[in-house]
Amino acid sequence: MAILIQGGTIINADNVFEGDILVEDEIIQTVAVNIPEEKYMKVIDAKVKLVMPGGVDVHTHFALPMFNTVSSDDHYTGHKAAAFGGTTTVIDFVSQDKNDLKACVDAWHEKADSKAAIDFSFHMNISHFDDEIARQIPGLRNMGINSVKVFTAYNNRLRLNDGHIYRVMRIAKENGMLVLVHAENGDVIEVLVQEALDAGNTYPFWHAKTRPAEGAVESVYRTIKLAEMAQAPVYIVHMNTKGGAEHVRDARLRGLPVIGETCPQYLFFTEDDLMRKDGSKWICSPPLRTQDDNIGLWNAIENGTLQTIATDHCPFFFDGSKPIEYEGEMVAIPGKELGKGDFTKIPNGLPGVGDRMMVMWTQAVGTNKISANQFVRLMCTNPAKIFGLYPKKGTIQPGSDADLVIWDPNMEITYGKDYSHHRTDYNLYEGMKLKGMVEKVFLRGRKIVDGREWLGKRGAGKFIHRNDILVL
Ligand code: URP
Ligand code: ZN
Ligand code: ZN
Repeated sequence: MAILIQGGTIINADNVFEGDILVEDEIIQTVAVNIPEEKYMKVIDAKVKLVMPGGVDVHTHFALPMFNTVSSDDHYTGHKAAAFGGTTTVIDFVSQDKNDLKACVDAWHEKADSKAAIDFSFHMNISHFDDEIARQIPGLRNMGINSVKVFTAYNNRLRLNDGHIYRVMRIAKENGMLVLVHAENGDVIEVLVQEALDAGNTYPFWHAKTRPAEGAVESVYRTIKLAEMAQAPVYIVHMNTKGGAEHVRDARLRGLPVIGETCPQYLFFTEDDLMRKDGSKWICSPPLRTQDDNIGLWNAIENGTLQTIATDHCPFFFDGSKPIEYEGEMVAIPGKELGKGDFTKIPNGLPGVGDRMMVMWTQAVGTNKISANQFVRLMCTNPAKIFGLYPKKGTIQPGSDADLVIWDPNMEITYGKDYSHHRTDYNLYEGMKLKGMVEKVFLRGRKIVDGREWLGKRGAGKFIHRNDILVL
């Protein structure tokens, strides 16, 4: 059935206007002022509402095995939470737990395809590298994957040495792919963690103290230099320090193809949150930093240094021994309590995929830090362009997938766990006053969220083969 979304304020990356959107066969057919209403159309009144492209979150970890447990949202529950938060496309990371990259990707499809409730794609982690893996990386393109993530931390687990990162960058460049880098100083972390444990310093705060900001800043700089030597573009994930953002800014001013992503948690929280009684809720890697870093990252968003805001959604229960109700069933998944008495055993990661759009709308657009257009650029259009999803995703224009969010700019709520739909027992933004909320969400023309009602389905989300990357 054709849908006519009538009279909304349509917000794209670079324009805002009042108009109508005609949707048919999963696609946006027409965007215009006053599309004539016909009998065969179902009309949705969007007057006094905003209409935005569905959000694109390019950094999620669903059902990720870690420390004898698994992140508590899978490819259904996480997609559902994303949809309630106005996100209709996610890119998840495939673990390299075998030396056959195709087998790794197939395993992730096995986990995701039958559960997916929104559209999705994958990045491939390269956490072990040799000539055989070098040979296999270009083949990822045939699997619809144009991006690989490497790590400068997590020694003996995920980290590659600089020579291997440099080689991955060269291969990626030759094959039109983008390298994503997790930038921290793995060697310094190893030393500091051992020293902390030897001294009996086991509280969550020591997670932040043993992963110093200077190591992240140094690693961002090293990453930029490796990419410069490889003559390759690079995308730095979850940027968390003011100093790192300054290196990205300098590189971009020199014309280098360096792209930076940050996540809301690095804007709103600091290492002091780890000192709370429930501090393990804020354990993620890289860790939360200082207020000065928060401010530096906000500046980097406002002045265009950073191109995307993703979530690094990787939730764990705060207390996985106590079940919560999820879709009528009681669920408990071991979580942060695994690290009681030893911060190194606390699973790393935070919930966020459902929070991103609403929290950032209030805190960034509502405070005039960025415009509504910039919001759409950072949340939808830039991530879609960079990772080869555009113009299918990330924009409201004829021919694009009808992934649309009708947004009520006047609705005010006190946010928290009850709104967020993540399959976990806490929300980082509990009690935050928000103005501006998702009202309806469409995935390829099908309504999947209506107010607080879930209309989405397991298996209705499609894997999207991605086209060429674009360096913004
Ligand atoms: O703490 C986090 N971020 N866990 C997910 C893995 C990663 O490095 O992004
Ligand atoms: Zn990472
Ligand atoms: Zn991550």
